[in-house]
Amino acid sequence: MLILGIETSCDETSAAVVEETGNVDRPWTVRSNVVASQIPIHREWGGVVPELASRQHIRDICGVVERALEDAGAAWADLGAMAVTQGPGLVGSLLVGVAFAKASAAAAGLPLVAVHHLAGHIESLVLENGELPLPAVVLVVSGGHTSLYLVREAGHYELLSRTRDDAAGEAYDKVAKLLGLGYPGGPVIDRLAAGGNDRAVPLPTTRLTHADRNAPTLKGDLDFSFSGLKTAVLHYVRKKGNDSRPLFTESEIADVCASFQRVVVTVLIDRLFDAARRYQAKGVGIAGGVSANSRLRAELRQYGRLREMPTFLPSLGLSTDNAAMIAAAGLRKFRAGITAPDDLNADASLTL
Ligand code: KG4
Ligand code: ZN
Repeated sequence: MLILGIETSCDETSAAVVEETGNVDRPWTVRSNVVASQIPIHREWGGVVPELASRQHIRDICGVVERALEDAGAAWADLGAMAVTQGPGLVGSLLVGVAFAKASAAAAGLPLVAVHHLAGHIESLVLENGELPLPAVVLVVSGGHTSLYLVREAGHYELLSRTRDDAAGEAYDKVAKLLGLGYPGGPVIDRLAAGGNDRAVPLPTTRLTHADRNAPTLKGDLDFSFSGLKTAVLHYVRKKGNDSRPLFTESEIADVCASFQRVVVTVLIDRLFDAARRYQAKGVGIAGGVSANSRLRAELRQYGRLREMPTFLPSLGLSTDNAAMIAAAGLRKFRAGITAPDDLNADASLTL
């Protein structure tokens, strides 16, 4: 069976066709995955402008879907179902995908599945690696989220912890902005960090020990916090440079990038393996945009080898937002007998 996935939660318009293989260990393969990125549009403003994002999704969605079908060598009549990201994300952006999916599923007589964006990121691991050894602990780390999930049973995601303030990707984007490096910050900091000294700038690591009043069901000691780190970089930059234009040499900028990246990666890896130990995980994974980070990928593999723990990462193309992961999560839900009601609506703060 083929499923068409659609993702428009932020600044990527994406459509993909994923095929069910019938193989228990490796349940799905990607037939096509088309991503129209809006990065050049938002770069000019230093971040995603929601109104521009939704308008661009409207322009791109039809062409992206047609291209995904063409790349897969499939017609509407070959599809067995559709899946769409319902949330969380920017509501105007989500609405474009949801409205398109509802209309085209109705017109083609296809069942529609509503997918949580983070379930998509988690299932991106299964798309390429096959089913995870369970229980597994997965870190979803992107521009909007930094959360740890326990997967005891395929398709069931238990929230263990999340960030109390900024997401890790958001911290990358903000630090890049204050260093004048442009948007998005992750890839450029990652690249510059390779040439810097990661001990050059003393930056704080946050370790939370107390529960969060806003999340009484979580223990809190596996939570993340990145706003203090971001502010520490800001103070460092202000002290060294002048307010409007930091007076840094290229090598000093590389040092800041490397030092910032060391702290972020250390915190993410430490908490992930703390959780793995606590829940006796048989595997750990990292998904979401920041999982494209070279240091994070290297440290995950290195720690995994050291602790004899199988580790899982998406390929770079499936790290950032894409519709193949939404199609995969949709297929899993479809096989569990869950489809969307006719009055499906986008939900900007959907919980998993
Ligand atoms: O998953 P994603 O495409 O969108 C969200 O759901 O947020 O993640 C985008 C985030 C951005 O904050 C971007 O700076 C970050 O992922 N990112 C990276 C890297 N590539 C993208 N962060 C660190 N290192 C990278 N190589
Ligand atoms: Zn994402």
